[in-house]
Formats: sequence, C-alpha cells, structure tokens
Amino acid sequence: MLERDEEDEEVSDGGESVTKVGGRNMVARVEMDSRWWHPFNVDAACLGDGGADGVEFMRAFDTAATIISERFQSVTPYSWKIKKKLDIGSQKLLRESIVTVHKFADGIVRHTIDQARSSNNMNEDLLSRFINIEEMNSPELLRDIVISFILAGRDTTSSALSWFFWLLSKHPEVENKIIQELNSVRERTGKRIGEVYGYEELKLMNYLHAAITESLRLYPPVPVEIMSCVEDNVLPDGTFVGKSWGTSYNAYAKGRMESIWGKGCDRFDPARWIDETNGGFRGENPYKFPVFHAGLRMCLGKEMAYIQMKSIVAAVLDRFVVEVPGKKERPEILLSMTLRIKGGLFVRIHERT
Ligand code: HEM
Repeated sequence: MLERDEEDEEVSDGGESVTKVGGRNMVARVEMDSRWWHPFNVDAACLGDGGADGVEFMRAFDTAATIISERFQSVTPYSWKIKKKLDIGSQKLLRESIVTVHKFADGIVRHTIDQARSSNNMNEDLLSRFINIEEMNSPELLRDIVISFILAGRDTTSSALSWFFWLLSKHPEVENKIIQELNSVRERTGKRIGEVYGYEELKLMNYLHAAITESLRLYPPVPVEIMSCVEDNVLPDGTFVGKSWGTSYNAYAKGRMESIWGKGCDRFDPARWIDETNGGFRGENPYKFPVFHAGLRMCLGKEMAYIQMKSIVAAVLDRFVVEVPGKKERPEILLSMTLRIKGGLFVRIHERT
C-alpha cells in the first residue's frame, strides 16, 4: 500500500537501504485512497503508478488550499486581488489548480452517475445519495460536495497523523505502551500481525485513542476556526455579534492554555485522557477541546476519523518502527487550511523485529 511517488527519495544509510518519505505526504495519499471508498464509490488510486490523475489532483488541491489561506495571512490584502485581475503569479497558479481540482471532482460525479445508469441501480455511498435528491442534482453543487468532503476528511487526518508520528518518535515510552496494548488486543482477539483490525478490536485500543487525542490537543488539524455571523446575535455571556461580523477561535492556543489544561499543558501526556479507575478513555467537553468543533455544526466525520487513524497507526506500528531523523527539532509548520508540516515529515521505516 505504501508506494512512493517521484517526490519521495530513497537513500542509502550505512549499507542499509531506507526509504525517506517526504515531498508529497504519503499519509495523505493513504487517507485519500481509503476514504474514497466511503463517501464516494470511486478509487482515487493516487498511491500507485496508475493514479497519475489522482496525484495531479492532490498536488493541485494542496496548492490551491495553500494559496487561498495565504490570502488571509497577507499583510497587503489587496495585492492578491490585483494579481487575480492581471492573472499573474500565485493567483494564476490558483486559477490553474482550481481547473485541475474541478476536472477531477467532475470526473467522480460523472463516474458515479454512469455507474448507476449502467447497473440501473444507485449505490449506497454518500455521493449517490446526494445525486438521488432532486434539489441537489446540479453538477456544480455535486462537485462542491465532493470537494468539501475531500477538504474535511483528507487533510485533517493526514495532518493529525504526521504530527502524531513526530510526537511518537520523541516519546518511546508512549510507543512502548501502544505496542503493549496492541499485543494484548491480539492476545484477546486471536488477530495475527498483518491482519486488519476490525471495529471491535479498535474499540479496545483505549491508550492508542488517548495518544491520538493528546496529539490532536497539541496539534489540532483545524487550528483556527473562522466564521461569519448570518444575523445579529448575542453570545451566552452577553457579547453582541452583528450580522456579517467575522468571529474566530484558536484551537491551537486553547489546547496549550494553562488555565484550561493545568500545569504541564505543553507536555505530550496521553495519560490525561485515561480514566484511572478503569483504564478506559475519558473524553472532554467539546467546548474545552474544540478540535472537532462543538455544537450543531460539529464534525460529522469524527468517529470515522478515529477509526481510520487508529487502524493506520496500529497497522504501521505492528510491523514497523518509524524513525524521524532530527526529531528533537519541531518540524516547520505550514499554515494552510489545516496545520501541516512544511515539506512533509521525513521518516525512515524499519521492519520491527
Ligand atoms: C482528525 C480529523 C478531523 C478533524 C480534526 C476534523 C475537524 C473538523 C472541524 C473543526 C469541523 C468544523 C468546521 C467548520 O464548521 O468550519 C469539521 C466539520 C466537518 N467534518 Fe471534520 N474533521 C476531521 C475528519 C473528518 C472526516 C474523516 C470527515 C468525513 C469524511 C469529516 C467530515 C466533516 C464534515 C462533513 C464537516 C461539516 C459539518 C457541518 O458543517 O455540519 N471530518 N471537522
């Protein structure tokens, strides 16, 4: 499953051949391929050589997301508008990237409709359900649904896992506990190394759940939430928010506040999520831990995200040791729509003996 693309490098290290995975984020490629099977009944196939369209799409998608979020961070907010008018520089690249993204998403919509026509039967996947609703049946709307699901699901989990593997490399004691938990789950369920863990087995992995959650607290994939108010409103504390005012909160800062998480709030400590009385996972109020947002518009894919992240981590750690060269230094942050690692996380993969 973990194939390389042309941006990954293979290097020789003292006679031992190791693979450095950087450039395009390998975790994102795995996420992309696995998720496709759920919301859309299509295999994006961006891992292998046959997935040229998928790889091109991912590159364009990343470029577009980065350029759009740079607009928000720009000191001279009007400079991008001039570039857009003249169709030059980053805004030209954005326009070209959007064309590639639209082409790929349109292809998925077309493929789903063609499949249904040829079999005279609509599939059960999410996109097919939207196609079945008459008011939703506009090509632009369906394309936007495809794009928003990719944005909501692909970059978030891959960002989370990249930071998780970096934190894990710095905390061998946490890795050992996860390995112990995996061993005990295998003993209890009779699973063998290399076999895919099912939902019931993943549910037993409380410590892994805690370790991923702790990593999300420190490196939330959606670090800043920005919203616009639809109509005049008053917050519970009496603060007035007017129509079309912008509001935002910073989940990254919130996850590191001593007043919320106590002393040692910047320490990676999965134990803070474990209930000492029974060893189970102890969740937090989403308003205290708004990594998946809170309230009515909370993330719809939270459970699915945990299933995917836990099954990927368990499958990798069962068989491999993920070594991060230069792990002491925190990787550089690339603030795009999500909290990404600039250039991807470079790792060496060794078989676990
Ligand atoms: C670690 C992984 C994830 C994180 C941290 C995350 C976080 C978030 C956040 C903060 C929001 C609120 C965004 C907003 O309203 O501006 C959101 C919304 C959403 N997420 Fe996730 N998400 C993750 C994974 C997923 C996955 C795997 C899916 C499904 C494919 C998904 C689907 C959605 C959808 C559909 C919404 C919109 C909900 C609505 O507006 O009612 N997410 N997510």
